[in-house]
Amino acid sequence: ASDQQEVNEKHHELVLSLPKESGLGAVPYLHLFQGFWCPSHCIQGVENFQKHFHAKDNDVFVASFPKSGTTWLKALTFAIVNLPSFSSFEHHPLLTSNPHELVSYPEFILSRDFHDQVLSLSNMSEPRLFSTHVPFSSLPESVTKSNCKIIYICRNPFDIFVSSWEFFTKLKLVSLPALTYEEAFEKYCNGIVGFGPWWSHMLGFWKESIATPNKVLFLKYEDLKEDTEFHVKRMVEFLGCTITQREESTEMVENIIKLCRFEKMKDLEVNKSGEIDKFTEKKNFFRKGKIGDWINYLSPSMIEKLSKITEEKLSGSGLSF
Ligand code: A3P
Repeated sequence: ASDQQEVNEKHHELVLSLPKESGLGAVPYLHLFQGFWCPSHCIQGVENFQKHFHAKDNDVFVASFPKSGTTWLKALTFAIVNLPSFSSFEHHPLLTSNPHELVSYPEFILSRDFHDQVLSLSNMSEPRLFSTHVPFSSLPESVTKSNCKIIYICRNPFDIFVSSWEFFTKLKLVSLPALTYEEAFEKYCNGIVGFGPWWSHMLGFWKESIATPNKVLFLKYEDLKEDTEFHVKRMVEFLGCTITQREESTEMVENIIKLCRFEKMKDLEVNKSGEIDKFTEKKNFFRKGKIGDWINYLSPSMIEKLSKITEEKLSGSGLSF
């Protein structure tokens, strides 16, 4: 018990020493930790992820900046990875479970009392599928250095802001400290948002996907919406899944896409009510699922400001929206 007390005290001291802000995605605050704005409730989880998680070569990670399409990517990847076990689309786990119940975030589950979770993670059936919001530079070495695969989903920063505003202001128990819309936008422009700055997050995975394309597959929400079949086939190929016959593969891919369609998922009983954790209602993961909804939310001066920042931060990288 005294060891645990010492760990808790050390953690407390660490958190106190970090710059602290309010912002979207703060639960209840954001702390500048290892160069990113980490929500209070998962600093310990990130540290335990780095120290105690052992990646296996056949692990698959779904990585994203929050509100970029994680739920969709989790569903698609789960369906692909589990094709051998669940090729019946009538009794698929995605019809009775929310994608967040099927694919978990090590940084969220490896919090204070992590020993049992570490054990249950190591006993998961393989290939194991995880998700993460941790920036590439803060991922455990065992993830970056092993042969495990990462699929990253990126979204235009305008829609991320709107989706974040709509989502995080509906979180339960996190009313403190309240932010106005304008304050949230200013902070977002300065990178102060959970797991931000968003540009560093995107660029970290973007650069890695160029340097090691067999390790990191970089997708954009917009591309995935516009030509889902093409990009799901890229995912299948990247994951090295063997769907042998060409006709069979097209049918499988079509079934996966249908199963994970926004309207279909939003309409499932399992996604209409209930909670993922004490903060989050499942229904809030399915809002509009559109490209460009920001036009209904941002003033001309906000658009100008965010366009400038996006251009400036991503300039020279080859990544654009
Ligand atoms: P909007 O708020 O713009 O509607 P995340 O899953 O990373 O939290 O991102 C949430 C965004 O993805 C929300 O965007 C949500 O509606 C959208 N989304 C959720 N499920 C989806 C699906 N199956 N297909 C497309 N978009 C989806």
